[in-house]
Amino acid sequence: MVEKINSYNAVPTSSIPRWNQVREKLLYITWTQALIATLGSLFFSEVMGFIPCVLCWYQRILMYPLVIILGVGILLQDRRVRIYVLPLSILGIGIGLYHNLLYYGTIPEGFHICTSGVPCEARWIEWLGFIGIPLLSFTAFTIITLCLLWYQFVDTDEEDAPSSKPIGSNRENGLKGISALLGFLYATIIIVGISSRIGENTQGVGNSDRFSTNSIIPKGTTAFLSPNASYSPEVLGQGQQVFNRQCSPCHGQKGEGIPNLGLTLVDNAFIQENTDTDLLEFIKVGRLTFDPENQTGMAMPGKGGNITLTDSEILAVIAYLRSLNQ
Ligand code: HEC
Repeated sequence: MVEKINSYNAVPTSSIPRWNQVREKLLYITWTQALIATLGSLFFSEVMGFIPCVLCWYQRILMYPLVIILGVGILLQDRRVRIYVLPLSILGIGIGLYHNLLYYGTIPEGFHICTSGVPCEARWIEWLGFIGIPLLSFTAFTIITLCLLWYQFVDTDEEDAPSSKPIGSNRENGLKGISALLGFLYATIIIVGISSRIGENTQGVGNSDRFSTNSIIPKGTTAFLSPNASYSPEVLGQGQQVFNRQCSPCHGQKGEGIPNLGLTLVDNAFIQENTDTDLLEFIKVGRLTFDPENQTGMAMPGKGGNITLTDSEILAVIAYLRSLNQ
Protein backbone atom coordinates (compact mmCIF):
# COMPACT_ATOMS: atom_id res chain seq x y z
CA MET A 1 0.00 0.00 0.00
CA VAL A 2 2.73 2.43 1.08
CA GLU A 3 4.67 1.48 -1.97
CA LYS A 4 1.67 2.14 -4.12
CA ILE A 5 1.23 5.67 -2.76
CA ASN A 6 4.92 6.35 -3.25
CA SER A 7 4.90 5.13 -6.77
CA TYR A 8 1.79 7.23 -7.40
CA ASN A 9 3.61 10.28 -6.07
CA ALA A 10 6.60 9.58 -8.17
CA VAL A 11 4.79 10.10 -11.47
CA PRO A 12 2.07 12.74 -11.18
CA THR A 13 3.70 15.52 -13.16
CA SER A 14 4.53 13.30 -16.09
CA SER A 15 1.10 11.68 -16.00
CA ILE A 16 -0.88 14.94 -16.11
CA PRO A 17 -0.59 15.55 -19.85
CA ARG A 18 -1.73 11.98 -20.44
CA TRP A 19 -4.73 12.42 -18.13
CA ASN A 20 -5.50 15.68 -19.83
CA GLN A 21 -5.83 14.01 -23.19
CA VAL A 22 -7.94 11.26 -21.72
CA ARG A 23 -10.18 13.77 -19.99
CA GLU A 24 -11.02 15.61 -23.16
CA LYS A 25 -11.91 12.37 -24.85
CA LEU A 26 -14.03 11.13 -21.95
CA LEU A 27 -16.52 13.99 -22.26
CA TYR A 28 -16.83 13.50 -26.01
CA ILE A 29 -17.29 9.74 -25.57
CA THR A 30 -20.03 10.42 -23.00
CA TRP A 31 -21.81 12.89 -25.27
CA THR A 32 -21.55 10.54 -28.28
CA GLN A 33 -22.97 7.68 -26.21
CA ALA A 34 -25.92 9.83 -25.07
CA LEU A 35 -26.51 10.91 -28.68
CA ILE A 36 -26.41 7.33 -30.01
CA ALA A 37 -28.82 6.19 -27.28
CA THR A 38 -31.22 9.05 -27.99
CA LEU A 39 -31.18 8.65 -31.77
CA GLY A 40 -31.41 4.86 -31.45
CA SER A 41 -34.43 5.10 -29.20
CA LEU A 42 -36.10 7.60 -31.57
CA PHE A 43 -35.33 5.30 -34.50
CA PHE A 44 -37.00 2.37 -32.74
CA SER A 45 -40.13 4.36 -31.90
CA GLU A 46 -40.51 6.74 -34.84
CA VAL A 47 -39.17 4.66 -37.73
CA MET A 48 -39.77 1.09 -36.62
CA GLY A 49 -42.99 1.93 -34.78
CA PHE A 50 -42.07 0.16 -31.53
CA ILE A 51 -44.13 1.64 -28.72
CA PRO A 52 -42.12 2.61 -25.63
CA CYS A 53 -43.27 1.02 -22.37
CA VAL A 54 -43.59 2.95 -19.10
CA LEU A 55 -40.10 2.02 -17.90
CA CYS A 56 -38.73 2.94 -21.35
CA TRP A 57 -40.25 6.40 -20.90
CA TYR A 58 -38.58 6.85 -17.53
CA GLN A 59 -35.24 5.95 -19.09
CA ARG A 60 -35.89 8.31 -22.02
CA ILE A 61 -36.63 11.13 -19.57
CA LEU A 62 -33.22 10.54 -18.02
CA MET A 63 -31.30 10.00 -21.28
CA TYR A 64 -32.55 12.66 -23.70
CA PRO A 65 -31.55 15.75 -21.66
CA LEU A 66 -27.99 14.39 -21.37
CA VAL A 67 -27.29 15.19 -25.02
CA ILE A 68 -28.10 18.85 -24.38
CA ILE A 69 -26.56 19.17 -20.92
CA LEU A 70 -23.32 17.49 -22.02
CA GLY A 71 -23.29 19.45 -25.28
CA VAL A 72 -23.62 22.78 -23.46
CA GLY A 73 -21.06 21.64 -20.87
CA ILE A 74 -18.57 20.82 -23.61
CA LEU A 75 -19.18 24.11 -25.44
CA LEU A 76 -18.78 26.17 -22.27
CA GLN A 77 -15.93 23.94 -21.10
CA ASP A 78 -17.72 23.65 -17.79
CA ARG A 79 -16.12 20.91 -15.76
CA ARG A 80 -19.06 20.79 -13.38
CA VAL A 81 -21.14 19.25 -16.14
CA ARG A 82 -20.39 15.87 -14.55
CA ILE A 83 -22.25 16.96 -11.40
CA TYR A 84 -25.40 17.66 -13.39
CA VAL A 85 -25.21 14.49 -15.41
CA LEU A 86 -24.20 11.84 -12.87
CA PRO A 87 -27.44 11.90 -10.81
CA LEU A 88 -29.44 11.29 -14.00
CA SER A 89 -27.18 8.54 -15.33
CA ILE A 90 -26.99 6.75 -11.96
CA LEU A 91 -30.81 6.81 -11.71
CA GLY A 92 -30.85 5.45 -15.27
CA ILE A 93 -28.66 2.54 -14.16
CA GLY A 94 -31.09 1.81 -11.30
CA ILE A 95 -34.17 1.80 -13.53
CA GLY A 96 -32.30 -0.08 -16.26
CA LEU A 97 -31.30 -2.76 -13.77
CA TYR A 98 -34.90 -3.25 -12.68
CA HIS A 99 -36.13 -3.24 -16.28
CA ASN A 100 -33.59 -5.86 -17.37
CA LEU A 101 -34.37 -8.21 -14.48
CA LEU A 102 -38.05 -7.88 -15.38
CA TYR A 103 -37.32 -8.36 -19.07
CA TYR A 104 -35.34 -11.55 -18.51
CA GLY A 105 -37.99 -12.90 -16.15
CA THR A 106 -35.67 -12.90 -13.11
CA ILE A 107 -38.09 -10.88 -10.98
CA PRO A 108 -41.86 -10.63 -11.22
CA GLU A 109 -43.51 -7.27 -11.82
CA GLY A 110 -43.84 -6.04 -8.23
CA PHE A 111 -44.76 -2.36 -8.45
CA HIS A 112 -47.46 -2.54 -11.14
CA ILE A 113 -45.59 -0.02 -13.25
CA CYS A 114 -46.21 -1.71 -16.56
CA THR A 115 -49.93 -2.33 -16.33
CA SER A 116 -50.99 0.17 -18.97
CA GLY A 117 -49.90 0.19 -22.61
CA VAL A 118 -47.19 -2.05 -23.94
CA PRO A 119 -45.79 -4.66 -21.52
CA CYS A 120 -42.32 -3.79 -20.22
CA GLU A 121 -41.06 -7.21 -21.24
CA ALA A 122 -42.24 -6.83 -24.85
CA ARG A 123 -39.47 -8.11 -27.09
CA TRP A 124 -39.15 -5.84 -30.09
CA ILE A 125 -35.62 -6.92 -30.97
CA GLU A 126 -33.44 -9.73 -29.73
CA TRP A 127 -29.95 -9.46 -31.18
CA LEU A 128 -27.64 -12.49 -30.72
CA GLY A 129 -30.59 -14.20 -29.08
CA PHE A 130 -30.60 -12.12 -25.89
CA ILE A 131 -29.78 -8.43 -26.47
CA GLY A 132 -33.01 -6.45 -26.10
CA ILE A 133 -33.66 -2.71 -25.93
CA PRO A 134 -33.44 -2.62 -22.08
CA LEU A 135 -29.90 -4.02 -22.28
CA LEU A 136 -28.92 -1.34 -24.82
CA SER A 137 -30.22 1.35 -22.46
CA PHE A 138 -28.44 -0.17 -19.46
CA THR A 139 -25.20 -0.30 -21.47
CA ALA A 140 -25.51 3.38 -22.40
CA PHE A 141 -26.15 4.54 -18.82
CA THR A 142 -23.26 2.39 -17.56
CA ILE A 143 -20.80 3.78 -20.11
CA ILE A 144 -21.90 7.38 -19.40
CA THR A 145 -21.60 6.92 -15.64
CA LEU A 146 -18.20 5.24 -15.85
CA CYS A 147 -16.81 7.91 -18.19
CA LEU A 148 -18.02 10.73 -15.95
CA LEU A 149 -16.75 9.11 -12.76
CA TRP A 150 -13.31 8.83 -14.32
CA TYR A 151 -13.62 12.31 -15.79
CA GLN A 152 -14.31 13.57 -12.28
CA PHE A 153 -11.27 11.71 -11.04
CA VAL A 154 -8.81 12.97 -13.62
CA ASP A 155 -10.24 16.46 -13.45
CA THR A 156 -10.03 16.94 -9.69
CA ASP A 157 -6.73 15.16 -9.65
CA GLU A 158 -5.16 17.59 -12.00
CA GLU A 159 -6.68 20.67 -10.37
CA ASP A 160 -5.66 20.14 -6.82
CA ALA A 161 -3.04 17.47 -6.62
CA PRO A 162 0.29 19.03 -5.77
CA SER A 163 2.97 16.54 -6.60
CA SER A 164 4.04 16.13 -2.98
CA LYS A 165 0.70 15.02 -1.46
CA PRO A 166 -0.70 11.52 -1.74
CA ILE A 167 -4.02 13.03 -2.77
CA GLY A 168 -5.97 10.99 -5.24
CA SER A 169 -4.96 7.53 -4.13
CA ASN A 170 -8.02 7.06 -1.93
CA ARG A 171 -10.23 8.52 -4.57
CA GLU A 172 -8.63 6.33 -7.17
CA ASN A 173 -9.25 3.26 -5.08
CA GLY A 174 -12.85 4.33 -4.50
CA LEU A 175 -13.36 4.85 -8.21
CA LYS A 176 -11.81 1.51 -9.02
CA GLY A 177 -14.18 -0.06 -6.50
CA ILE A 178 -17.25 1.63 -8.01
CA SER A 179 -16.11 0.76 -11.53
CA ALA A 180 -15.61 -2.86 -10.51
CA LEU A 181 -19.11 -2.86 -8.98
CA LEU A 182 -20.65 -1.48 -12.17
CA GLY A 183 -18.68 -3.99 -14.23
CA PHE A 184 -19.92 -6.77 -11.96
CA LEU A 185 -23.55 -5.58 -12.30
CA TYR A 186 -23.18 -5.42 -16.05
CA ALA A 187 -21.65 -8.89 -16.30
CA THR A 188 -24.43 -10.24 -14.05
CA ILE A 189 -27.14 -8.83 -16.32
CA ILE A 190 -25.45 -10.36 -19.39
CA ILE A 191 -25.20 -13.76 -17.69
CA VAL A 192 -28.83 -13.52 -16.48
CA GLY A 193 -29.91 -12.58 -20.02
CA ILE A 194 -28.03 -15.38 -21.75
CA SER A 195 -29.06 -18.02 -19.24
CA SER A 196 -32.74 -17.01 -19.31
CA ARG A 197 -32.80 -17.36 -23.10
CA ILE A 198 -30.89 -20.66 -23.04
CA GLY A 199 -33.42 -21.93 -20.48
CA GLU A 200 -36.23 -20.85 -22.79
CA ASN A 201 -34.80 -22.63 -25.80
CA THR A 202 -34.72 -25.88 -23.93
CA GLN A 203 -38.04 -25.50 -22.12
CA GLY A 204 -40.12 -23.55 -24.64
CA VAL A 205 -40.71 -19.83 -24.97
CA GLY A 206 -42.42 -17.61 -22.44
CA ASN A 207 -41.00 -17.32 -18.96
CA SER A 208 -42.91 -14.24 -17.91
CA ASP A 209 -46.51 -14.22 -16.76
CA ARG A 210 -47.88 -11.91 -19.38
CA PHE A 211 -46.34 -13.81 -22.25
CA SER A 212 -46.55 -17.38 -21.07
CA THR A 213 -49.00 -18.33 -23.75
CA ASN A 214 -47.17 -21.43 -24.88
CA SER A 215 -48.88 -23.66 -22.42
CA ILE A 216 -52.39 -22.71 -23.54
CA ILE A 217 -51.94 -23.76 -27.13
CA PRO A 218 -50.94 -27.31 -27.88
CA LYS A 219 -47.69 -27.56 -29.84
CA GLY A 220 -48.03 -28.33 -33.52
CA THR A 221 -51.69 -27.23 -33.71
CA THR A 222 -52.37 -26.82 -37.40
CA ALA A 223 -55.91 -28.13 -37.59
CA PHE A 224 -57.30 -24.62 -38.12
CA LEU A 225 -54.93 -23.67 -40.93
CA SER A 226 -57.58 -24.09 -43.58
CA PRO A 227 -59.42 -20.86 -44.47
CA ASN A 228 -62.80 -22.52 -44.13
CA ALA A 229 -62.13 -24.41 -40.96
CA SER A 230 -64.47 -23.83 -38.07
CA TYR A 231 -62.63 -22.95 -34.93
CA SER A 232 -63.20 -24.68 -31.63
CA PRO A 233 -64.32 -22.49 -28.70
CA GLU A 234 -61.10 -23.50 -26.98
CA VAL A 235 -58.94 -22.11 -29.78
CA LEU A 236 -61.07 -18.95 -29.94
CA GLY A 237 -60.62 -18.42 -26.19
CA GLN A 238 -56.88 -18.95 -26.52
CA GLY A 239 -56.74 -16.52 -29.44
CA GLN A 240 -58.62 -13.91 -27.42
CA GLN A 241 -56.16 -14.28 -24.55
CA VAL A 242 -53.19 -13.71 -26.84
CA PHE A 243 -55.02 -10.82 -28.54
CA ASN A 244 -55.76 -9.11 -25.23
CA ARG A 245 -52.15 -9.34 -24.20
CA GLN A 246 -50.44 -8.56 -27.47
CA CYS A 247 -52.72 -6.76 -29.88
CA SER A 248 -55.27 -4.87 -27.77
CA PRO A 249 -52.82 -2.11 -26.67
CA CYS A 250 -53.08 -0.82 -30.27
CA HIS A 251 -56.21 -2.42 -31.70
CA GLY A 252 -58.49 -1.99 -28.67
CA GLN A 253 -59.96 -4.50 -26.22
CA LYS A 254 -62.49 -5.78 -28.75
CA GLY A 255 -60.52 -5.04 -31.91
CA GLU A 256 -62.47 -1.80 -32.38
CA GLY A 257 -59.24 0.15 -33.08
CA ILE A 258 -57.63 3.02 -31.16
CA PRO A 259 -57.14 6.40 -32.84
CA ASN A 260 -53.47 7.00 -33.75
CA LEU A 261 -52.46 3.51 -32.61
CA GLY A 262 -54.14 0.74 -34.58
CA LEU A 263 -56.89 0.18 -37.13
CA THR A 264 -60.20 -1.46 -36.38
CA LEU A 265 -60.05 -5.19 -37.01
CA VAL A 266 -63.85 -5.62 -36.81
CA ASP A 267 -65.55 -5.98 -40.21
CA ASN A 268 -62.13 -5.46 -41.72
CA ALA A 269 -61.79 -6.06 -45.46
CA PHE A 270 -58.12 -7.04 -45.22
CA ILE A 271 -58.93 -9.86 -42.81
CA GLN A 272 -61.93 -10.98 -44.84
CA GLU A 273 -60.01 -11.07 -48.12
CA ASN A 274 -56.96 -12.96 -46.90
CA THR A 275 -56.55 -16.61 -45.99
CA ASP A 276 -55.28 -17.71 -42.59
CA THR A 277 -51.90 -18.49 -44.11
CA ASP A 278 -51.65 -14.99 -45.64
CA LEU A 279 -52.71 -13.38 -42.37
CA LEU A 280 -50.15 -15.49 -40.51
CA GLU A 281 -47.41 -14.25 -42.83
CA PHE A 282 -48.65 -10.67 -42.49
CA ILE A 283 -48.81 -10.69 -38.69
CA LYS A 284 -45.34 -12.25 -38.45
CA VAL A 285 -43.82 -9.48 -40.56
CA GLY A 286 -46.06 -6.50 -39.74
CA ARG A 287 -46.22 -3.34 -41.83
CA LEU A 288 -43.78 -0.61 -40.95
CA THR A 289 -44.27 3.06 -41.76
CA PHE A 290 -42.07 3.00 -44.88
CA ASP A 291 -43.94 -0.01 -46.30
CA PRO A 292 -45.76 1.10 -49.50
CA GLU A 293 -48.83 -0.83 -48.30
CA ASN A 294 -49.00 1.23 -45.10
CA GLN A 295 -52.25 3.17 -44.91
CA THR A 296 -51.98 5.17 -41.71
CA GLY A 297 -48.37 6.27 -41.34
CA MET A 298 -48.28 4.23 -38.11
CA ALA A 299 -46.39 0.98 -37.77
CA MET A 300 -47.77 -2.49 -37.27
CA PRO A 301 -44.79 -4.24 -35.61
CA GLY A 302 -44.10 -7.86 -36.60
CA LYS A 303 -45.88 -10.26 -34.19
CA GLY A 304 -47.33 -7.19 -32.47
CA GLY A 305 -43.90 -6.56 -30.95
CA ASN A 306 -43.51 -9.89 -29.18
CA ILE A 307 -41.01 -11.87 -31.21
CA THR A 308 -41.60 -14.93 -29.06
CA LEU A 309 -45.16 -15.50 -30.36
CA THR A 310 -45.33 -18.91 -32.00
CA ASP A 311 -47.19 -19.70 -35.24
CA SER A 312 -49.85 -21.61 -33.35
CA GLU A 313 -50.45 -18.64 -31.04
CA ILE A 314 -50.81 -16.33 -34.03
CA LEU A 315 -53.15 -18.80 -35.72
CA ALA A 316 -55.30 -18.80 -32.60
CA VAL A 317 -55.41 -14.98 -32.77
CA ILE A 318 -56.43 -15.27 -36.43
CA ALA A 319 -59.26 -17.58 -35.39
CA TYR A 320 -60.35 -14.89 -32.92
CA LEU A 321 -60.08 -12.18 -35.61
CA ARG A 322 -62.32 -14.27 -37.87
CA SER A 323 -64.95 -14.29 -35.15
CA LEU A 324 -64.91 -10.46 -35.26
CA ASN A 325 -65.51 -10.54 -39.01
CA GLN A 326 -68.47 -12.85 -39.50
C1 HEC B 1 -47.90 -1.10 -31.83
C2 HEC B 1 -49.27 -1.15 -32.20
C3 HEC B 1 -49.81 -2.42 -32.79
C4 HEC B 1 -49.81 -3.68 -32.24
C5 HEC B 1 -49.25 -4.09 -30.87
C6 HEC B 1 -50.48 -4.52 -33.17
N1 HEC B 1 -50.84 -3.81 -34.28
FE1 HEC B 1 -51.82 -4.53 -35.89
N2 HEC B 1 -51.69 -2.73 -36.78
C7 HEC B 1 -51.17 -1.59 -36.22
C8 HEC B 1 -51.25 -0.50 -37.17
C9 HEC B 1 -50.78 0.91 -36.93
C10 HEC B 1 -51.82 -1.03 -38.33
C11 HEC B 1 -52.11 -0.29 -39.62
C12 HEC B 1 -50.85 -0.22 -40.48
C13 HEC B 1 -51.14 0.54 -41.76
O1 HEC B 1 -51.25 1.76 -41.70
O2 HEC B 1 -51.23 -0.08 -42.80
C14 HEC B 1 -52.09 -2.43 -38.05
C15 HEC B 1 -52.65 -3.32 -38.97
C16 HEC B 1 -53.02 -4.59 -38.68
C17 HEC B 1 -53.72 -5.47 -39.60
C18 HEC B 1 -54.13 -5.14 -41.02
C19 HEC B 1 -55.39 -4.32 -41.03
C20 HEC B 1 -55.67 -3.69 -42.37
O3 HEC B 1 -56.84 -3.30 -42.55
O4 HEC B 1 -54.77 -3.54 -43.21
C21 HEC B 1 -53.95 -6.64 -38.93
C22 HEC B 1 -54.63 -7.88 -39.46
C23 HEC B 1 -53.36 -6.51 -37.62
N3 HEC B 1 -52.82 -5.24 -37.51
C24 HEC B 1 -53.35 -7.50 -36.68
C25 HEC B 1 -52.66 -7.40 -35.48
C26 HEC B 1 -52.53 -8.49 -34.55
C27 HEC B 1 -53.14 -9.87 -34.71
C28 HEC B 1 -51.79 -8.05 -33.51
C29 HEC B 1 -51.34 -8.81 -32.29
C30 HEC B 1 -50.56 -9.99 -32.53
C31 HEC B 1 -51.46 -6.65 -33.78
N4 HEC B 1 -51.99 -6.31 -34.97
C32 HEC B 1 -50.69 -5.86 -32.93
C33 HEC B 1 -50.64 -1.47 -34.95
C34 HEC B 1 -50.46 -2.53 -34.08
